[in-house]
Amino acid sequence: MANGKTEEQITRFDKHPGKIGQMFNRIAPTYDFLNHFLSAGIDLKWRKLTVRDMGIRNKDLVLDLACGTGDLGFAALEKASQCRVVGVDLALKMLEIALEKSQKKGLTTSDYSFISGDILQLPFKSCTFDKAMIAFGIRNVMDTTRAFSEIHRVLKPGGILAILEFSMPERPLIKDLYLIYFRKILPFVGGMVSGDPEAYRYLPSSVNSFTPPEVLSLEMQKVGFSIKNIKRYTGGISYLILGEKQRT
Ligand SMILES: C[S@@+](CC[C@H](N)C(=O)[O-])C[C@H]1O[C@@H](n2cnc3c(N)ncnc32)[C@H](O)[C@@H]1O
Repeated sequence: MANGKTEEQITRFDKHPGKIGQMFNRIAPTYDFLNHFLSAGIDLKWRKLTVRDMGIRNKDLVLDLACGTGDLGFAALEKASQCRVVGVDLALKMLEIALEKSQKKGLTTSDYSFISGDILQLPFKSCTFDKAMIAFGIRNVMDTTRAFSEIHRVLKPGGILAILEFSMPERPLIKDLYLIYFRKILPFVGGMVSGDPEAYRYLPSSVNSFTPPEVLSLEMQKVGFSIKNIKRYTGGISYLILGEKQRT
């Protein structure tokens, strides 16, 4: 409890899209450096595994939701150079960095384009995309069921949704060590480097209070996805859920 509010209430308040967008705009300049530094580069491996496990192929039209600085979309284009990716995010500063990185890689907007928008109201026609993916984004969304319903709408029948998200390792010793790192060291270093301690306190608190993957996958099923797989990466520090929009 802090100021009479539970951790869950604080996290809920912080998930208002306006607040989330502002927070990521503030930390955008140091986001990539901190991601790779604090995870010792494992985050890049998780994104590679995600695009492999979801079966991204050339000719796929792929929606990268909460794309941030674009790393999941870049992993998709490394796996299948002729797929086309559309990235959507609330935070303009994150999108500016994504666009700059894309140009440096020699990609054009027909390879990877970026749109400012909210997952809860996607600016696309129904049945547009072959694949949709979201890395470390769904935890920040206020209404996950509505998000799944929107994603389901814009996917083609048979389309795949991949969700990559943090979780807590289950093995006791690994969990204890990880918690020290995640709750003490990461917020300290993240806060110092980014100049935004609140954002790096929000990270462990939002992971801790977020819906577990088994329950999240039930929400996906309720809006019409069938669950193909739930996989743990790196001793359970992250997980991947793969769902398929049922063909009617
Ligand atoms: C932790 S970052 C992840 C960025 C990127 N996917 C990655 O793998 O590094 C979370 C991103 O989700 C975005 N976001 C959060 N809620 C959103 C929403 N409702 N609609 C669109 N983007 C959202 C934030 O602006 C932020 O860029």
